[in-house]
Amino acid sequence: MQTVYLDHAATSLPKAPGVADAVRAALELPSPGRGNTRRGAEAAALLTRCRSAVARLLGVGSPDRIVFTAGGTDALNLALFGLLKPGEHAVVGDLEHTSVTRPLAALRGGGGVLSTLSSDEDGLYRPDELDALLSAPPAAPLVALSHGSNVVGTVQPVAELAAVCRERGALLLLDACQTAGHVPIDVDGWGVDLLATGAHKGLLGPPGVGVLIVGERAERRLTPTRLGGTGGGGGDDMPAELPHRLEPGTPNLPGIAGLLAAVEWIEGEGVGALHARSVECLGRLIDRLAALPGVRILGPPDAAQRCGLVSVTLPGWESMEAAAVLDASFGVECRAGLHCAPGAHARYGTRAEGGAVRFSVGPFTTPAEIDAAAEAVTALLS
Ligand SMILES: Cc1ncc(COP(=O)(O)O)c(C=O)c1O
Repeated sequence: MQTVYLDHAATSLPKAPGVADAVRAALELPSPGRGNTRRGAEAAALLTRCRSAVARLLGVGSPDRIVFTAGGTDALNLALFGLLKPGEHAVVGDLEHTSVTRPLAALRGGGGVLSTLSSDEDGLYRPDELDALLSAPPAAPLVALSHGSNVVGTVQPVAELAAVCRERGALLLLDACQTAGHVPIDVDGWGVDLLATGAHKGLLGPPGVGVLIVGERAERRLTPTRLGGTGGGGGDDMPAELPHRLEPGTPNLPGIAGLLAAVEWIEGEGVGALHARSVECLGRLIDRLAALPGVRILGPPDAAQRCGLVSVTLPGWESMEAAAVLDASFGVECRAGLHCAPGAHARYGTRAEGGAVRFSVGPFTTPAEIDAAAEAVTALLS
């Protein structure tokens, strides 16, 4: 039985061409730039090249604003704990992942308020509703929103949302774990203050590495949450400048080398072209699923509004059970349950019934694989 992998929103498979070789080659290099050796300098140059590549891809003018982290979750934790004091007010979307909601819940242990921005039926956050929330007291220093939810996948109007944040004096933290590599991103052009993403989903790189992009307005307010060696400065304080202020410890050089190879491949293909391919495959799947009686599609029917994923409920099937049968009997690998985003399922009324079945495509997904998945769901329901 052929395997049809439709769980790219969990992690991309396969990785971009060249990633595995880059990871392997970096395992043969010493620690970057911590000494005065030629190979150490070669390793340090990889970090610099990767920062520049990520900056180009995501529309960031200064590569020093790219801070390497241990993944998307780590980048979000760094932003949230580095910016907010316990009990401080924040605004959060109702579709967010637990890597945003759990840090916020922990911070809220200090008291204070958390305001929720509701999404509409298509999974969109509306700038006017954000404006209303931000204009009511108490002032919120931070708004945390996903660029694309991992349950509904609607791509948000970031420039408009960022403009509202700016006008109301709040920083915008964008969780781009599901959109980086999938859709064009312009951090500086849109006025995003902080952007967090891991390398292993749409960026087609290895797990265990990610980035936090720190904009000018956020830089002054972001306190390091992890302290340690950076190879520079002999005192007890972290260096003042980015990225070193936020990057203690020996970096994950193999992961970063893999991310560099992946980003260079994506640049060669063009994010716009990759998005067009994913829209075609996802649209084909949505059309097939929508034609099946009783199947409920969460969010917009238009694949062009999405970042490569669709979640559905299947009549007569609990999502975990459906996904297990799709895999065992048809070789279709997808993701069921609450997807670490119980709030999003509460929003769509699918939390109590145990979530939904999510299909997500990548740049190597083929129309034939989509058809195989659609046939499998049809057989499951017949
Ligand atoms: C929207 C969103 N945010 C954050 C994360 C966390 O990313 P990671 O698991 O790569 O740390 C995920 C991963 O599923 C996600 O989908």
